Amino acid sequence: MEDKNITVTINTKRHTLAVSPNETLLRVIRDRIGLTGTKNGCGEGECGACMVIRNGKPVNACLIPAMACDGDEITTIEGLADGPDRLHPLQDAFISHGAVQCGFCTPGMLISAKALLDDYPNPPREQIRKALSGNLCRCTGYQKIVDAVSAAASGTVPSEKPEAVIGGDYPRRDAIEHVTGVSKFGADITHSRAAVGKILRSEYAHARIKHIDVSAAEELDGVLAVVTGADVPRGYFGVDIKDRLVFAREKVRYRGDEVAAVAAETEAIAQKALSLIRVDYEPLEPVFDVREAMADDAPVIHEQLMDYAAGFETEKQGNICTMAHVRLGDVEKGLADADLVLESTFRTQIQHQASIEPHAAMAEIDSHGRILITTTNQKPFAVRRYLSHAMQIPMINIRVNATKIGGGFGGKLEMIVEPYAVLLARKCGRPVKIVYTRAEEFLATTPRHPASFKIKSGVKKDGTITAMQAEFIYDTGAYSGNGPTTVTLCAQVIGGLYRIPNVRLDGYCVYTNKMNCGSMRGPSAPQTTFALESHIDDLARAIDMDTLDFRLKNLLEPGEKTAVGQTLVDMDFKKTVLAVADAMDWRAPITDENTGKGLACVYWLSGGWSTSVTVKINEDGSVSVVTAAVDMGTGYLYTSVIQIVAEALGLDPDDVHLVQGDTDQCGYDHGIGGSRGVFTVGKCAKMAAENALEALMAVAARKLKVSRERLESKNSWISVKSAPEKRVSFADISVERHILSGGPITGVSEYLPEMDSIEPGRVKGLSFPAFKGVTIGCHGVKAHVSSDTGEVKILKYVAAHDVGRAVNPLAAEGQIEGGVAMGLGFALSEELMIGRQGEVVNPSFRDYKLPTAMDVPEVESILVETPAAYGPHGAKGLGEPTMAPPAAAVGNAIRDALKLRMTETPMTAERILSALEEKKKAVPSGMP
Ligand code: FES
Ligand code: FES
Repeated sequence: MEDKNITVTINTKRHTLAVSPNETLLRVIRDRIGLTGTKNGCGEGECGACMVIRNGKPVNACLIPAMACDGDEITTIEGLADGPDRLHPLQDAFISHGAVQCGFCTPGMLISAKALLDDYPNPPREQIRKALSGNLCRCTGYQKIVDAVSAAASGTVPSEKPEAVIGGDYPRRDAIEHVTGVSKFGADITHSRAAVGKILRSEYAHARIKHIDVSAAEELDGVLAVVTGADVPRGYFGVDIKDRLVFAREKVRYRGDEVAAVAAETEAIAQKALSLIRVDYEPLEPVFDVREAMADDAPVIHEQLMDYAAGFETEKQGNICTMAHVRLGDVEKGLADADLVLESTFRTQIQHQASIEPHAAMAEIDSHGRILITTTNQKPFAVRRYLSHAMQIPMINIRVNATKIGGGFGGKLEMIVEPYAVLLARKCGRPVKIVYTRAEEFLATTPRHPASFKIKSGVKKDGTITAMQAEFIYDTGAYSGNGPTTVTLCAQVIGGLYRIPNVRLDGYCVYTNKMNCGSMRGPSAPQTTFALESHIDDLARAIDMDTLDFRLKNLLEPGEKTAVGQTLVDMDFKKTVLAVADAMDWRAPITDENTGKGLACVYWLSGGWSTSVTVKINEDGSVSVVTAAVDMGTGYLYTSVIQIVAEALGLDPDDVHLVQGDTDQCGYDHGIGGSRGVFTVGKCAKMAAENALEALMAVAARKLKVSRERLESKNSWISVKSAPEKRVSFADISVERHILSGGPITGVSEYLPEMDSIEPGRVKGLSFPAFKGVTIGCHGVKAHVSSDTGEVKILKYVAAHDVGRAVNPLAAEGQIEGGVAMGLGFALSEELMIGRQGEVVNPSFRDYKLPTAMDVPEVESILVETPAAYGPHGAKGLGEPTMAPPAAAVGNAIRDALKLRMTETPMTAERILSALEEKKKAVPSGMP
């Protein structure tokens, strides 16, 4: 078929252009017209990020051939506003209701909502959920989106500003960019000379590479460069253990391992070139099961394991890259003293971060040979370090600039796409951009570790736990990645909630021939919480004690120690649990058939690691916050951190400007993850702002001829408290300092939060001790479970979290709602499946089931405040623990409803039915 001329009207502007047969409307809108507000999240009609209105109807632009659009009228997100200075009411409502987190799904959501309101001006919530069910959002849990559409429909969009800065529901500062489609994410950033990069991946789960022949690919017209392991020095990199090379060299370790990469003029040429690369493999026996991988005669995945460098003392053996042990008291004696001993096993699946935005990176080389890499990464400084190690390039020759991130959830913490773009750009002398396909996302990024648990505990009839022993095995896949940290966190989480005098924990991080599992929101927390809190529930039931009362009896109190020996301060676990019990009306009996209730708690901490923030007072008195910390979608930088700086300086948050994520322009930051955004970066920002304020105050005191103590700062003015008319503006002070004397005012702070101490005698093999800012989350679920279909219907969901201090309650609620949705996906539907040859069986949103707006219930969020001395204004980390309890809470509700203990996630309808069948078989007929 030939190219064809079409005329299409996009946002009232006519365009005539020649389109090719395989060109989609999405490609025309984004690449030909340059309207990048319409996003590509999957390219296969499953995510809704590409939604546009075509002749009055919402459609997925990725599915529409451009040739079919001749004469069509198209509205994209850029055409939604009512005028250049007037947003559409839906856009206003999304901003004010906190319906925007990372913003990647926002354009598609708004288009679907607009199409709905065009047909039904005042739809009920259920209809809104249905209309949005073709639009996936990984961040918000949909609730605030539904709130926003309702408010826009009813004309009740609030416009007043919050009264207080700390504790005020400020919308994220960049929300307007997201709702108008002007935000630039990784795939939106391009260069007129950019070539397309593509990666060749292993077809085998485990094989020796005998030879790679790239000559045919190199000769193909339009190919600019081909690179393999031969083009890069043998530099190992890794988070905890350096066990990975940029390209697989002697052997491949999973189906997806990078073998070669190509840069070409077009995607089609790059794809063709990949097919011309010949790799001669000698297949080796793969191993996919952790217990088989731990056997003495298992195929060895890393022959050089003992030689790999590690950032902590590791115990390695065979395919086990780390072991972690905790010992407290005498477990045998504790079990012997118990009235009842209960043993349980649990398994959890691979869950994928499934950010709607795929990984993307563009590399450019400047005339001095310096590398600029623009990337969707949560850790720009770590990428610089990893690139430097892996490619043996001095760090100073690498600049990493993080883009806006369309959802990270830990999936964009490691170096994934960046080195291939860099190698290709260096070889072909042109910018090279790589954007992962949805299939590559599922195949070759770093999802949540599958884990298995054996837990055995003793309990007395009065509810006292006498001992617990647990073995937990984390499947880290082909490389260690974040596995050792995950195992460490598991030990902390399992021993963090309850008073247990005798504890023995043994954790293993094991290589298999799967993709490298990594950090996903609360590494280890959902897995551990599912196992621990299901087991705790069963312990309570075994002694016929209410599961709430059992928890209240055993929860640790301030001043007590966790299993690893961390002394608990600034916490009140019971307060959070009781808040849920209250909201659930826990003591009220449930009489409906097949209906039950469940509770689950999670211990978590607020991440540390070092950071630095600069607060600049500009010549006109405006304020810029400069930080290499990025916002991976939660909005903490654009809400809480800005509010913290504004409060310190006495400003309106709207007057604080943010510069983020550039290793050349910003001071060091460890990288965003571990619930450290507000707790650590926010604290550092507060210190920097206070330093800037003191410099302003010193000038003001001299000018106003009063002492510093008599001054206060408000709305960009410093005035005498007792005589407010005596005042001087930030602008006057700053301009004088810039031009006449003293130099610019800059508040700088570096901050490395202290680790919390533990008892070294109790632990062995942990990759770090513990963080401060201990917090708890408790979720309560009431659910009906059909014994005919296995379907779980959630009737009520309550989630309480100790946030220390809610700097921005709207944003905090958004974290809880989004975490619950992700946790329910882990609980009920999401599983990345690996086939017998190591292939990913379901690498698309069609078969990997993310919760939609129809699947997620309304969540009642409760913000409990037990301030942390180390947190800014007492705030604690919140992003991660929100997704840990849902699986256990739902599992406990299923147990309550059907007397059926689910031991494996996800608890799909099929698994529930088959567990019911097993249970029937296990109980001989005639037995009660
Ligand atoms: S990009 Fe079109 S539906 Fe996902
Ligand atoms: S806000 Fe919806 S995907 Fe991030």
